[in-house]
Amino acid sequence: MSIYAELKMKFTKHFGDSKQPVSIFFAPGRVNLIGEYTDFNGGYVFPAAVSLGIWGLLRRRTDGIIQLHSDNAGSGAVIDLNQTLVCRQEDGWTNYPKGVIQYLVDQGLRLQGCDVFFSGNLPTGAGLSSSAALLILTAYMLQTTFGNSGVDRVAMAQLCRKVENEFIGVNCGIMDHFAIAMGHKHHAMLLDCNTLTHEYIPLSLDNHSLVIMNTNKKRELTDSKYNERRQECDQALAIIRKHRDIEHLCQATMAEVEGLLEQPVLRKRARHVVSENQRVIDAVALLRAGEVSAFGGLMIASHRSLQTDFEVSGLELDVLVEHALQVPGCIGARMTGAGFGGCAIALVENQALDKFMQQVRLGYQAVTGRIADFYPAIVADGVERGAIHEG
Ligand code: GLA
Repeated sequence: MSIYAELKMKFTKHFGDSKQPVSIFFAPGRVNLIGEYTDFNGGYVFPAAVSLGIWGLLRRRTDGIIQLHSDNAGSGAVIDLNQTLVCRQEDGWTNYPKGVIQYLVDQGLRLQGCDVFFSGNLPTGAGLSSSAALLILTAYMLQTTFGNSGVDRVAMAQLCRKVENEFIGVNCGIMDHFAIAMGHKHHAMLLDCNTLTHEYIPLSLDNHSLVIMNTNKKRELTDSKYNERRQECDQALAIIRKHRDIEHLCQATMAEVEGLLEQPVLRKRARHVVSENQRVIDAVALLRAGEVSAFGGLMIASHRSLQTDFEVSGLELDVLVEHALQVPGCIGARMTGAGFGGCAIALVENQALDKFMQQVRLGYQAVTGRIADFYPAIVADGVERGAIHEG
């Protein structure tokens, strides 16, 4: 049975049969190849959308009710479009689509009732942007169904970031929403988060594959130190601004970081941000020149910086990365996303892949007692509408 047929069956089982057509959509997750914690500091990032993601099925209703259901969570929500929606802790994952609905309504989109079913293979809370995927998926489904046919994908990414910042309360940057809205198959994107200028770079890895390694240690972005790191970056910026009028921390020089920031913690945080931004620029130049193994070297340097200066890694991620780097054929590895658990990525020679996964799994289990999962990172397109419109 095709994935569409299977999901349609589950949809009908949950919401009942009707003559109305059911449309299907898909939003990918993302990995960030390099450029961590540079997005909200006005710097560069280098993410790619991946083929793991979330499907969304939608069928119009004749009333003003939106029913949501998640196959994975086994829960949902019933939303009355006449009411103002607010974020409530007990509403769990449904706060994400709720936020999008509210912000689209505020923006003037005339939404009508519909039944919406989500089902995905993207591990949640694993650093692959399951929340941004859910936000973008909801926005894209509702805008293409009830709005004009052409969706402005950049504006959609900005709206979803706003939902996450203001409605959910996570002070994240634009990287995840942008990558999921704008991804291109076989390409990573060099995104300047200050101007939103972006360029697609073919991901030619010269007989190497990108492997996602899941620590299976969940992280909760809101509960984590994410917002604290953001504040530390803002404090470092405020100090440097007393000496030179810069807009973002990524515009500081290393001499300013080392010379002006007396507090060791702020100096370390800023050192990571400024050096990481340069690593993105260098990494893209190396990839363009076909220097895959030097690119891998920068991935390792990025991990070290996140580990010691930005302090967002952790035992599980470090153990995965160290074991990965011990396997012959692995030329680079680093945590991806916000850290504090979640996923790491590795660049591995194709011939060594099986041995790599076996060895890293064993080593990781011996130290942490946890089982790691491995997925090939197949670089995919951004959010899209699937092929079924059947009654
Ligand atoms: C999370 C956030 C992003 C970015 C990364 C770290 O994924 O959502 O905006 O800050 O962490 O690079």
